[in-house]
Amino acid sequence: MSTGAYAAAYEQSIADPNAFWGAAASAVEWSTPPTQVLDDSNPPFYRWFRGGHLNTCFNALDRHVRDGRGDQAALIYDSPVTGTAQTFTYAELLERVARFAGALAGLGVEKGDRVVIYMPMVPEAVVAMLACARLGAIHSVVFGGFAPAELAARIEDARPKVVVSASCGIEPSRVVEYKPMLDGALDRSSHKPEAVVVLQRPQARAAVGERDTAWEEMTWEEVDADAEPADCVDVEATDPLYVLYTSGTTGRPKGIVRDNGGHAVALRWSMENVYDIGPGDVWFTASDVGWVVGHSYIVYAPLLTGATTVLYEGKPVGTPDASAFWRVISQYRCTAMFTAPTAYRAIKREDSAGELMRQYDLSSLRCVFLAGERLDPDTYAWATDVLGVPVVDNWWQTETGWPIAANLRGLEPMPLKPGSPSVPVPGYDVQILDESAQPVPPGTEGAIALRLPLPPGTLPTLWQDDERYVASYLSVYEGYYLTGDGGMVDEDGYVYVMGRTDDVLNVAGHRLSTGSIEAALAGHPAVAECAVIGVADDFKGQVPRGLVVLKGGIDPQVDGERIRAELVQRVRDEVGAVASLKQVDVVGALPKTRSGKILRKTMREMADGKTPSVPGTIEDASVLETLGPVLRPPNPL
Ligand code: COA
Ligand code: AMP
Repeated sequence: MSTGAYAAAYEQSIADPNAFWGAAASAVEWSTPPTQVLDDSNPPFYRWFRGGHLNTCFNALDRHVRDGRGDQAALIYDSPVTGTAQTFTYAELLERVARFAGALAGLGVEKGDRVVIYMPMVPEAVVAMLACARLGAIHSVVFGGFAPAELAARIEDARPKVVVSASCGIEPSRVVEYKPMLDGALDRSSHKPEAVVVLQRPQARAAVGERDTAWEEMTWEEVDADAEPADCVDVEATDPLYVLYTSGTTGRPKGIVRDNGGHAVALRWSMENVYDIGPGDVWFTASDVGWVVGHSYIVYAPLLTGATTVLYEGKPVGTPDASAFWRVISQYRCTAMFTAPTAYRAIKREDSAGELMRQYDLSSLRCVFLAGERLDPDTYAWATDVLGVPVVDNWWQTETGWPIAANLRGLEPMPLKPGSPSVPVPGYDVQILDESAQPVPPGTEGAIALRLPLPPGTLPTLWQDDERYVASYLSVYEGYYLTGDGGMVDEDGYVYVMGRTDDVLNVAGHRLSTGSIEAALAGHPAVAECAVIGVADDFKGQVPRGLVVLKGGIDPQVDGERIRAELVQRVRDEVGAVASLKQVDVVGALPKTRSGKILRKTMREMADGKTPSVPGTIEDASVLETLGPVLRPPNPL
């Protein structure tokens, strides 16, 4: 265990958060400095940096231009799927952002208004996010891989004044047209925006303004070309910067609120202390701006730091091959990279000896960071071996916005242990609790909970739903935030995260809800009931499986095959291909408790070949027997 900088910082962060975060806040430029660091007057709601005023876009762009970084690269867009690359200096990015902020202002967007951004990995997505921040408007980015039902649910809840989108995204196998999906989502949503702005991409142009709609439709170019640059709008530290929807167990996504002040302070601190990245470093995060990793570590943290961020529109493999990441690292002399373990598993599958890697000069690379799902010891060992640099797991979630557990490469690098994201990050009081809310001894598994208050940058609540915030996260253990992950802490204080204890899915580092996949299945006219479970998968970590009971009168022998194919397609059309639902089985009945709760966990354990935990309240235990061969078919050998 550390006796050095980490131990001192951690202790202070828990014992005296006011002093710790008060000092960290000086790395951010405030128009009015905060009068209070932690406001704990209204538990369980905690707020950071009361009285402080700032603008996040100012801290990400204007400040660096003013201080002489105008000519430094801020954003490098590298897009193997379109065969293009483009570098934007801080001055250029500022100019683009200020102009698009003016364009949004021209459409009536003001401080506090929401703007939904549904875009692929193009620079304009970053420009739109920062333009919202500049105006004090609240962006809500929706991952481009989500189809109409998911997009509609987010539009319904966020109630945006404007939606910014693009004509298409580009997957290696196909061009994905966004506009029909956006139209489909807007048709479903009871909330309609005032305007829709569409970036036309040459790979597939969209029909813009051709339908008779209640809202105005324009191209990006039309609104942006002559817009007057807009200035930064002063906001309070506690005003929301963005709402990012994430999947819970039900079909209704949770609107995670991120405030301006705490976010800027925490991300700035994490770049230096967790990731060891400073001004001028080149940093490459291969994720998507639609996920929290993209928000925090493609966009905000590197720019708040004055580093250079790489925006990569491509995949780890197939664009064109498994050397894509190494090409990017060597071409831009990246200091560090960050992605999900699945991406490394994809590379390992195609180039396990690392031969393609050796074509590139990776001497600039100091460290690799992996997060978003469990880093299995095999992938950790392989990556460490072929890359020869530290491979650093870090554990966190959309709700926290930055790492809960990590090996703090800037503050005090500590020994790495396979299977563990290392130690609690300063600010997070990590506790492993048993069912009666008692801390368990080292080495014992339990629920991972965080003692309140959570540090700056984490969610203060859910978008316009304090009640759901408390019910979802704070009601199980009083005084604690429930992470939804199970795990343990060892004798050295290292955290081990075993996986979700609820029904949230994590497929290739993408967080998905069983509820929304089930809603898509249940919408099929032949389905009487259904359940979705996440089963272990060597490549994607987890994949969903659907189990459906058909309505009376439908003969599975006759129609089963057709219905299964339709169900797979339905999930692609409603939730998105990213759900990766390939297997749906027709079953006679689903196991339930006497009160009607479907036993997903029991089925998951059966499918994973574990001993299933069967609650005493099961309605009919014989259902499990009939499901056995379906969930885990006997090995034919
Ligand atoms: N827009 C539209 N479709 C998308 C999409 C997007 N942004 N992202 C993924 N999809 C589609 C894929 O094309 C694929 O479609 P298909 O079923 O027709 O082939 C489907 O969704 C499943 O995608 P994915 O699970 O990503 O599988 P894959 O085999 O295409 O790629 C990896 C596998 C590992 C290469 C990819 O998942 C990856 O790069 N993962 C990194 C994880 C990551 O970025 N996580 C974010 C948090 S850090
Ligand atoms: P998301 O909100 O999409 O970032 O997903 C968060 C969830 O992903 C967590 O609750 C974990 O279940 C899982 N996760 C993220 N990072 C890790 C990690 N380093 N180790 C284990 N699980 C992780």
